[in-house]
Amino acid sequence: MASEKELIELAVGMLDRAYIPYSHFPVGAALECEDGAVFTGCNIENASYGLTICAERTAAFKAVSEGHTKFRRIVIAGRCEDYCWPCGACRQVLNEFGPDMEVICLNGRGEAAHTTLKEMLPHAVDAVWLGN
Ligand code: THU
Repeated sequence: MASEKELIELAVGMLDRAYIPYSHFPVGAALECEDGAVFTGCNIENASYGLTICAERTAAFKAVSEGHTKFRRIVIAGRCEDYCWPCGACRQVLNEFGPDMEVICLNGRGEAAHTTLKEMLPHAVDAVWLGN
């Protein structure tokens, strides 16, 4: 299991990998799975703007595609004034694999806000809600 400090360093390191020719707004993520595996991600933009993928979903899809489907926590880094909160789409995707996960958001000064996905996304759409 990685320490929070290690996950923070990984997420911040991913800021330099962000492909952001349009927004110039880098986001980095480090996702820890229940089995201890860690996956990183950055945002990747596209000239067809809507095809952009966020850092959190890059990390999530890397994890799932490698067979890791239970998420424990994620650190999200930005260089912004406010904490780098995950967008609604990313919250919903993270909920699929980690409804009880911890979410740690950093601002550009390296300060951290600790919260949970449940707090950020109450009444998520999930298998129970679907009646599955
Ligand atoms: N972005 C993320 O990577 N994660 C979020 O949760 C919010 C937004 C990216 C998408 C886009 O490349 C840039 O930040 C500005 O929205």
